[in-house]
Amino acid sequence: SLASKKLVVANWKMHGNLMRNQQLIQAYLPALAACTRAEVVVCVPYPYLAQIQTLLTGTSVAWGAQNVAKYEEGAYTGEVGAQMLTDFGARYVIIGHSERSTAYCESDENIAEKFMMAKRHGLTPILCVGETLLEREAGVMERVVGKQLETIIRLFGGEAFAGSIVSYEPIWAIGTGLAATSEQAVAMHQFIRESVAASDKTAADTLKILYGGSVNPQNAVQLLNQKEIDGALVGRCSLDAEQFIKICQAVP
Ligand code: G3P
Repeated sequence: SLASKKLVVANWKMHGNLMRNQQLIQAYLPALAACTRAEVVVCVPYPYLAQIQTLLTGTSVAWGAQNVAKYEEGAYTGEVGAQMLTDFGARYVIIGHSERSTAYCESDENIAEKFMMAKRHGLTPILCVGETLLEREAGVMERVVGKQLETIIRLFGGEAFAGSIVSYEPIWAIGTGLAATSEQAVAMHQFIRESVAASDKTAADTLKILYGGSVNPQNAVQLLNQKEIDGALVGRCSLDAEQFIKICQAVP
């Protein structure tokens, strides 16, 4: 991609508390400040956005959330709007993570609307796409991922992907310790970029495509050295400062 630095995004998922968050960020910071090859983002649960803003303001590390409402401000009990995320300095938001789409039956249309809501408020959406093991075994993984991208293209056009982020997260690789091989990831990343390019070439050139799913300090070296892989979305290993730092340092 023509996009600049590789990006390493921590997805803390539903982990943490005030004390542990502070310890983790303090453990991250010295090494991450020195690691100028990678751009680093930490995506935290909503209640900790204020804390993370305080801890990360003035550092090289950016922050974001793990979900956003598809609506503007209004009578939506329990929802959190994009303007609330930017109010706390968030610059990124994860959209359509499979842990949400399966548990809360999020449709591709819902996900597409959240994606556009993030963009409308100046947030960079990190759209998660990926197939199940059954779908890979049946050889339909590109069709599945293609359909996830297609909904956004159909509703909002390929230009929606300009400056955005897609994270390829095969569901069978999430939290299983079994990461995709770099060959599998590269093939899907090429497919994703081509799919966007077919609709909007310029947008495809400024799209970052991350890999997520059991990224660890060992496999990060090979994954992050692929030119097709613009970065990583890291779950479990982002909760351990030493491992997360090593992953960031694996950026060539
Ligand atoms: O969003 C990151 C993700 O789902 C991967 O999680 O724990 O396999 O690194 P993990």
